[in-house]
Amino acid sequence: MIVANQLHKSFKRLGASRRAPKSEQYIAAVKSVSFSALDGCITGLLGPNGAGKSTTLRMLATLIKPESGNAMIDGHDVATQVLQVRKHLGFMPHNAGIYPRLTARENIHYYARLCGLTRKQSQQRTGELIEQLTMLKFADRRATGFSQGQKTKVALARALVHRPQTLMLDEPTNGLDVMATRGLREIIRQLASEGHCILFSSHIMQEVAALCDHIAIISDGTVVMEDSLNEILKRTGQNDLEDAFVQAAQSLNHGEDE
Ligand SMILES: Nc1ncnc2c1ncn2[C@@H]1O[C@H](COP(=O)(O)OP(=O)(O)OP(=O)(O)O)[C@@H](O)[C@H]1O
Ligand SMILES: [Mg+2]
Repeated sequence: MIVANQLHKSFKRLGASRRAPKSEQYIAAVKSVSFSALDGCITGLLGPNGAGKSTTLRMLATLIKPESGNAMIDGHDVATQVLQVRKHLGFMPHNAGIYPRLTARENIHYYARLCGLTRKQSQQRTGELIEQLTMLKFADRRATGFSQGQKTKVALARALVHRPQTLMLDEPTNGLDVMATRGLREIIRQLASEGHCILFSSHIMQEVAALCDHIAIISDGTVVMEDSLNEILKRTGQNDLEDAFVQAAQSLNHGEDE
């Protein structure tokens, strides 16, 4: 389970003058992000480019520290209980940086060892994942030159290697064809039905609408609404998620104008 409470993070703007006002020296990537993602559910973090999705996920994955606010993964604080959080969490980053000189199998095995599995456990788990994610054809090829779909599978296997309770995926279907997208959806649904908590980010409304039980809409660094698809449509008085999204984002801007 993930609970995020008023997460905030800004980055220094490179080249900004120190005499400039603070608001010009820093970019507020995430202004106020609060939402929860339950076990057994697929939660979508839906927002346009630059909305703060990746920054939010990186804070939840303990890769960067929130400036303020807090978040718990399965009851562990992302700022103070980093090792516990990493044990419970699998994270598939955007542009998953897999090692090009290692084969797919070696990439997964290496990560399993880093997660504390013994050599034997790691070999066994790696084999299982290669089969489950239908990677046999390219498992023993070096990752240099892998297609986007092949890279995604390796990154997903890596995120799942320690059987984490909670799984976060940053735009996982980016660059995948229809069949690979369907395969990934199946895996996500299966994991949720086994009681895992799944959070994935996307800017594709149809994808989120088709897959998610729960949706958090993020716009300009702020979660402006979170609910089931039906409730979001009801609350915004719209018939489809795209219109609801625009409506929710506009309500944020109007709030700022006041
Ligand atoms: N390391 C960084 N240094 C400076 N600015 C950053 C950094 N990381 C993110 N940002 C800025 O923070 C904002 C949010 O970025 P983020 O990557 O979280 O958005 P996103 O919702 O994941 O977008 P996309 O859909 O394009 O992946 C953007 O304006 C981005 O330029
Ligand atoms: Mg991103």
